[in-house]
Amino acid sequence: MDLYEYQARDVFEKHGVPVLGGIVATTPAEAKAAAEKLGGGTVVVKAQVKTGGRGKAGGVKLAHSPEEAEARASEILGMDIKGHTVHRVMIAEGAKIAEEYYFSVLLDRAERRYLAMASVEGGMEIEQLAVERPEALARVPVDPTVGIDAAKAAEIVSQAGFAPEVADEIAAVLQKLWTVYAEEDATLVEVNPLVRTEDGAIIALDGKVTIDENAAFRHPDHAELEDKAAADPLEAKAKALDLNYVKLDGEVGIIGNGAGLVMSTLDVVAYAGEEYGVKPANFLDIGGGANAQIMANGLDVILGDQQVRSVFVNVFGGITACDEVANGIVNALGILGERATKPLVVRLDGNNVDEGRKILAEANHPLVTLVATMDEAAAKAAELAAAK
Ligand SMILES: Nc1ncnc2c1ncn2[C@@H]1O[C@H](COP(=O)(O)OP(=O)(O)OP(=O)(O)O)[C@@H](O)[C@H]1O
Ligand SMILES: [Mg+2]
Repeated sequence: MDLYEYQARDVFEKHGVPVLGGIVATTPAEAKAAAEKLGGGTVVVKAQVKTGGRGKAGGVKLAHSPEEAEARASEILGMDIKGHTVHRVMIAEGAKIAEEYYFSVLLDRAERRYLAMASVEGGMEIEQLAVERPEALARVPVDPTVGIDAAKAAEIVSQAGFAPEVADEIAAVLQKLWTVYAEEDATLVEVNPLVRTEDGAIIALDGKVTIDENAAFRHPDHAELEDKAAADPLEAKAKALDLNYVKLDGEVGIIGNGAGLVMSTLDVVAYAGEEYGVKPANFLDIGGGANAQIMANGLDVILGDQQVRSVFVNVFGGITACDEVANGIVNALGILGERATKPLVVRLDGNNVDEGRKILAEANHPLVTLVATMDEAAAKAAELAAAK
């Protein structure tokens, strides 16, 4: 889960990272009030969208009075930045910037450790800097069991070439940013720019934080960081039903048991769909205990996708045997009643397959087609999706 800048600012503040005051506003009037609350002086009006390059897109603007803040907010609110509509701005205290630096720490999956990156040339062009002059961006591996302690912070500061006057202070801020990373279970903490102000303070002016959702159970407070309005409504519904669902851009709904089986189902449907011009509509793993309610929930989510025109239910009976799954499908169709509107292609195999197939054959539901193999079922589902 990516945080908005204002949320990252709050999290930084909680862990003692130096930040400036910032207040979120959703209307120009709120922006004016926020600027007044921050003292009535110079502020920066910043678009809150989960994408980079806001400054270049015109989403970060200076305002020298509350009235100007109101005017800038009315320009920025509603703006489109790379496909993201700006619904909120942050009114941030204005800093008198002497220098802009860059710092980030992230998960380096390939190396099974963390990686810290820092540069004394921060600001808006860091991606370009990394490509054109990689030597200007220090890359320092971080041992997960040690983290960024005083020694590691000193190493990063020295490799990046920070001036001696700021070295100690920067090192202290890096250690605070590490506590954000570790204690919040983040996979990315990026500060661009980290600045030195004219009066010598080191401040994080822009923060990007990505939280590892797998650690949600350790952080009940992270639930409120979630952006429910922005989430895909089907994904939000699936999440509420505890389903592993990812919406994709196709016509063939997919349900399977086990992530590996679902992944390969996506592949065979994508392959079979080429002939018909259709693609998989989603990933949905209903896991081991595929009972009627779980099957009904899964079907309900998939059938809620306007783009879906057929559904492929691909089940390999294991501990949950095929007869249970077959009963699950039949009962799910009963639970859904008139909400079940699209053809279902079912492929069952594995434990108790004969019994499972018999249950479906006897139920003889008008929407269900039973197909013996995965390839044939994928082709059938693609054909049905193209036909309707
Ligand atoms: N509070 C502030 N006071 C003064 N200047 C600021 C402030 N916040 C940002 N700026 C200036 O605006 C520039 C862009 O701001 P920021 O880094 O927040 O946006 P961005 O980098 O364009 O967005 P993104 O990080 O999404 O790419 C900064 O590099 C800095 O020069
Ligand atoms: Mg930035």
